[in-house]
Amino acid sequence: MKILVTGGAGYIGSQMVKTLLDSGHDVTVLDDLSTGHAWAVSDCELLQVNLLEEDKLSAVFRGRKFDGVIHFAAKSLVSESVQKPDIYYRNNVVGTLNLIHSMLAHDVDKIVFSSTAAIFGNPTTPKISEEHSKHPVNPYGKSKLMIENMLEDMAFAYGLNAVCFRYFNAAGADASASIGEAHEPETHLIPNVLRSLLKGEADMKVFGVDYDTLDGTCVRDYIHVNDLADAHLLGFDLLKSTPGFHTYNLGNGNGFSVMDVIRACETVTGKKVRYTVEGRRQGDPAVLVADSTKARTHLNWEPEFVNLEQIIETAWRWHKNFHARWSQIPE
Ligand code: UFG
Repeated sequence: MKILVTGGAGYIGSQMVKTLLDSGHDVTVLDDLSTGHAWAVSDCELLQVNLLEEDKLSAVFRGRKFDGVIHFAAKSLVSESVQKPDIYYRNNVVGTLNLIHSMLAHDVDKIVFSSTAAIFGNPTTPKISEEHSKHPVNPYGKSKLMIENMLEDMAFAYGLNAVCFRYFNAAGADASASIGEAHEPETHLIPNVLRSLLKGEADMKVFGVDYDTLDGTCVRDYIHVNDLADAHLLGFDLLKSTPGFHTYNLGNGNGFSVMDVIRACETVTGKKVRYTVEGRRQGDPAVLVADSTKARTHLNWEPEFVNLEQIIETAWRWHKNFHARWSQIPE
């Protein structure tokens, strides 16, 4: 198949590209390289285009016969979205609308969309299934929910076929340790802990120890990036056999607190994490844990990385590799 991967130079997107190429597919990456990295994409076409550039976007579809699109390109930081919501609505919602228009204009009718657990807001059940109420508490989650609603309406009106995957906390890195999480600035927990260990600095901050959880820190469900990429392949296959609009929650179903993650990083690395306690970060729900029964039963999706230390081990290998090459890597 010939697949367009938007945001294919980012953390999850570049893993998706590698998984597609390893499975024998033909891939074109569209990325504006605002947060992604050209070095993360190899062995396929990379087009530096922003989804808001409608003419360029249309030209990407003209002359290339895509079987479908896997759509990652988005602004994706919860706290930034609280400060600059307009950027999130423009990039994520308007950008995706442009993408859908180009797809429909060029008879491309399959899309796998990178959604998020942030569409649910504060959970009302211990584990979040697809039926859980959707009241996002930050503009990032709201923008992704708007896109899901848009895709559902386009599926009904124009016969678009769409799968939305709501990821819980993407973590870990490819076994090759050649691609992985490399945000600048980094805001995510596991990379921040591992980076602080590599730098040997006590710049790690724990945001909030007064949540209603066992140790007072936020609880998240960490899911390996390779397992996420595998789910997308299964999602694409589903669209060939079962057209329409589909949603799936992707997580391991186990919750780990910030302190659990810090302890697991210490076990994996053999180093002591030095951190300071700060106030709560805006827009953070206390607990987010997935019920992924639907993905497991409908898609036969079975995460390979179920153990937190095993996930962190892969991230640690990547960060050591990246840190060693840091000065040679172009932005
Ligand atoms: N945290 C720290 N210190 C850090 C970084 C994070 O204490 O340096 C805490 C956060 O406050 C939060 C937890 O660690 O409690 C996890 O934070 P991450 O930034 O790693 O991940 P988030 O849960 O905020 O974000 C993830 C995805 C988003 C998604 C969100 C849903 O990255 O795309 O889950 O809320 F929107």
